Parts: sequence; structure tokens; C-alpha cells
Amino acid sequence: MAIILGIESSCDETSAAVCIDGKIGSNIIANQTIHEKYGGVVPELASRAHQQNIIPVVETAIATAGIHKKDIDAVAFTRGPGLLGSLIVGTAFAKSFALARNLPLIDINHMQAHILAHFIDDNKPEFPFLCLTVSGGHTQIVLVKDYFDMEVVGQTNDDAAGEAFDKTAKILELPYPGGPLIDKYAREGNPTFAFPEPQIPGYDFSFSGLKTAILYFIRDKRKVDEDFVKNNMADICASVQHRIVTILLNKVIKAARDHNIDQVAIAGGVSANSGLRTALTETAAQRGWKVFIPKFEYCTDNAAMIAIAGYYKYLAGDFTGQDAAPLARMRM
Ligand code: KG4
Ligand code: ZN
Repeated sequence: MAIILGIESSCDETSAAVCIDGKIGSNIIANQTIHEKYGGVVPELASRAHQQNIIPVVETAIATAGIHKKDIDAVAFTRGPGLLGSLIVGTAFAKSFALARNLPLIDINHMQAHILAHFIDDNKPEFPFLCLTVSGGHTQIVLVKDYFDMEVVGQTNDDAAGEAFDKTAKILELPYPGGPLIDKYAREGNPTFAFPEPQIPGYDFSFSGLKTAILYFIRDKRKVDEDFVKNNMADICASVQHRIVTILLNKVIKAARDHNIDQVAIAGGVSANSGLRTALTETAAQRGWKVFIPKFEYCTDNAAMIAIAGYYKYLAGDFTGQDAAPLARMRM
């Protein structure tokens, strides 16, 4: 029996989870609403909120899982990538907890954990598979050869897909984080406006041109009709979402074909997007792929993915020392 406590604090969600023999016993997430009024995450405020949230979140995770502190066998924590001030809170907490109870420590790469969230439920992918990891900070196509043997075959040259959603929302004067709102409006609209698809070599992405195209498009439309955004919100959102989704999927199709892979997963906050989920399912049906789409609660940041990744590292006996420092730019 192995019980792992997972801690996630890389950005603006403070989360703790308990993994019992590879099954999730609890996954508690405290969302930080303080950032909404600033239109983006304020790092200083994020680390302060983590300080306030971390102990109650951990206590709740332990109680919800129906275990006691003494039952825990190891502590897994997000070491990076993420905001340094945020990572420090989770890292310091995990180290203190492990030190006080004489437990092994397990450091986890946040981007690997997003992918390993697919090993929480029974429908697990087989190695090798491709994973499109799309979040507020990253956009990557990853060739997953084993639990901790992952190769980034493509990534964004500028903005992440989540940023493309959030920046578009800002242009449309929607509150932060705008991704879920664009998704909501898009469901009521049609992709009637055409935005360009960037021509980037290989499996890499670029989203900055799209942002500029949207900015100019809205500016020009507003010159003629002040209420253009208000009157066309659903169609604008559907058009932007359609373009982001096709940019992502066209690269995944290319990478899957070239690597001869027929198992494709998505992970990260943007994998909650309904347009992406539907388009991936349709593409899979056409191409005979087996697809893996995470449950909503495992798309955005959560500690269940840290705890499950910790479980597999625990089985491999892969521990870290008390000298482990957060790595804001931790690589795969
Ligand atoms: O993985 P995540 O929670 O945090 C990071 O590690 O960045 O991803 C957050 C990102 C935000 O940009 C948010 O707008 C986006 O995921 N997001 C969505 C949706 N839900 C979250 N984007 C589009 N459609 C959604 N339904
Ligand atoms: Zn994330």
C-alpha cells in the first residue's frame, strides 16, 4: 500500500490531493479569485494566497481521503515550471511536511503531471503516445515514451494557446481568465469570420499573429459599428476558437502521421475547451486514432495529477533531497 500526498502551487491554484495505490482519494483546489480584477495573475498576490490556502487545503485533502497524516508514505510537489514565488510556497510546505514526518520527497514536473493525469482513471494510454499539452503557459506536442521519458517534438514560438484565448477575451473586454468564456459564447455562434492560419515549419506553433489579426479586425469593425463586438460576440468567439483549434489539430495530425502514432491525448487547461474536445474526437474517428480526453477536473491545475505522477515515481524509487529548489523554467 502506497499513500502519496500531492501538492500543486505553480500558478494561481493551491491544491492538495491524496493518491492511494494509484487511485485518487481526494483532490482539493482553492482557486484564487483575487486576480480577476487585474486581468491576469499577479505573482506577488498568488504567492501570498498560496501561503493562506496551503494548510487548510492539505488538511481538507487528508480528511476527505479518510486517512490520517501518519498513513502518508511520501510527499510529491510541483517543482516547476511555474511562478517562482508560487512554487516556493508548495516546495517549502512539502519539504517541511516530509522533514517533520521523516518521509521521502518526490519532485514533479508540472507539464509531465498534466500528461500523467491520463493514468488516474482506468482507460490508460499505452506507450508510446502523443500528447498535445495546452495551458496558459505552454503549448507542446509531446512524444510520451514512458512515464518519465517524454520528448517535446513541437512547441509554441511565442504565446501559449491559453494565452491566445485569454488575450482575445481581453480584446473583447471579457473578464480573466477568458478561455472558458470564449468557449461558452462559441457554443452559441458560428465561425463566420476567417482568421489566418500561420505557416510555421515542423510541429511548432505561433499565436501572436492571430492576436494581432483579431485586434485589427475588431478595431476596423468598430470604426463602422460601435456595437460590433456586443452584437457578434458568439460568432467572433466561435471564429477565434475554430482557428485556435485548427492550428492545434493540424500540427497534431502531422506529428502523429510522421511518428506513426495512433494514440493521441490532450492535457492542460485548454483541453477543457469544448471545440477542441469535439474536433479531436472527430479527427480520431476519421483517422482511426484512439483518443484520451481528461475529465474536466483534471484539465486545469490540480494536485491529483501531482499525486499520480508521485505514485509512479514512488514505485520507481525516484526521490529527491531536502535541497531541491523550485525551478521556474523546469524542462521535461
Ligand atoms: O493548465 P492551466 O490551468 O494553468 C496553466 O498551467 O497555465 O491552464 C489555464 C489556461 C487559461 O489560459 C484558461 O483560459 C485556459 O486554460 N482554459 C480554457 C478553457 N478552460 C481553461 N481555454 C479555452 N477553453 C476552455 N474551456
Ligand atoms: Zn497547468
